[in-house]
Amino acid sequence: MEGLQLIAVGGAEPSRVVTNDDLSKLVDTSDEWITTRTGIRQRYFCAEGEDTATLAVQAARQALERSGLQLAQIGCCVCATVSGVYAAPSTACLVQRELGLAQDIPVLDVNAACSGFIYGAAVARGLLAARPGDARRYALVIGSEQLSRMMDMTDRSTCVLFGDGAGAAVLELTPDAEFAVDLGARGDMAIEFPTGGPIRMDGRAVFRFAVDALPRTLHAVLNAAHRTLDEVDWVVCHQANSRIIDHCIKKLGADPAKFYKNMDRHGNTSAASIPVALYELQESGRLQPGMRIACIGFGGGLIWGGMLITVKGSAV
Ligand code: COA
Repeated sequence: MEGLQLIAVGGAEPSRVVTNDDLSKLVDTSDEWITTRTGIRQRYFCAEGEDTATLAVQAARQALERSGLQLAQIGCCVCATVSGVYAAPSTACLVQRELGLAQDIPVLDVNAACSGFIYGAAVARGLLAARPGDARRYALVIGSEQLSRMMDMTDRSTCVLFGDGAGAAVLELTPDAEFAVDLGARGDMAIEFPTGGPIRMDGRAVFRFAVDALPRTLHAVLNAAHRTLDEVDWVVCHQANSRIIDHCIKKLGADPAKFYKNMDRHGNTSAASIPVALYELQESGRLQPGMRIACIGFGGGLIWGGMLITVKGSAV
C-alpha cells in the first residue's frame, strides 16, 4: 500500500495564556507541584470567539499556505478531536466550509483522543488509497482541541494538565514514501471525556499505561518500518507529561535530544499535541527534507498509535 509523506504543517495558539500561578489562585496547587510532576509551566485557553473549529481552520489554512498547494488538490479532510462543539456538523465539515474545500471529497472527524492525529493520518491514507483514479493525492489532517471547556476548574488533579490548541498537516499519498503505522486500543475508563465534560482520570493508572504504551508503540512502529531508533531524526510523542517521555528515554537508553518536548508551554492538548509539536519543529527550521519522524500517541480509550513518516523534498 502507498504511504504518506509530510508536506507542511500549520498551527494555532489560542489567545489566553494561563500560567501555573494563575491556576494556583483557583485551586490548591503550586507552580512547583505542577512543574515537578508534569513539566507543564503554562497552557493556552480559548478566549471569547475561539473554539475547536476556529483553531482548526486557522491551523489548516496555514498548513495549506506552507504547502504551496491549491485547495483543489486536497482529496480528503480529517479532523481528530474530542472537543468539537457539534457532533454534526463535524469540525472537519466546518473547516471544509470555511476554507472552501471541494465538496466531492470525504470529510470527517476522528475520535481517538490523544492518539487522534495518528489515527486521523491512517484514516486519511485509507480514504485516498480507496480512490486510486483521483488525482487529488493530498490529505489535510488536523488535530484540534478546546479542552478548557471540558474541565472542572475545581478539580486540581485534572485542571492543571490540559490546554487548548490546534495543528494541521498536509500529507501526500505516494508509492515511494517510507511510511509505517501501528495502532491499537483497549477499552478502559482510566481517563474519561464525557460529552460536555468534565474530564475525569485515575492519574496513576494512566501514568502506568502511558509508560508501557509509549516505548512499546515506538518499538512496534520501528519494527514495522524496518528501522532502528538511530535512523530516526525526531521522536514526537504525545505531550502529556514530561516524566512519561523521560521514563521512555531511560527505558530505551535513547538520546533525549531526539525527543521533542513542548508541554512546558502547551500542557496536554490531546489530539492537537503531536501536530503542534511538528509545527514548532518546522517553524524553527528543524524539519529537513528526508528526515524520518516517529510520532507516538497514547491516551483516552485507552488508545495508542505510532506512525513513521518522512519529510518530503523541498516543500518544508
Ligand atoms: N496540586 C497539588 N497537589 C495535587 C494536585 C495538584 N494539582 N493534584 C493532586 N495533588 C495531590 C493529591 O491530592 C495527593 O495528595 P494526598 O497525598 O494528600 O492524597 C498527592 O498530590 C499525590 O497525588 P497523586 O495523584 O498520587 O500524584 P502523582 O504523583 O500520581 O501525580 C499526576 C499526579 C496526574 C501528575 C500523575 O499521576 C500523572 O502524570 N498521570 C498521568 C496523567 C496524564 O498524563 N494523563 C493524560 C494522558 S493522555
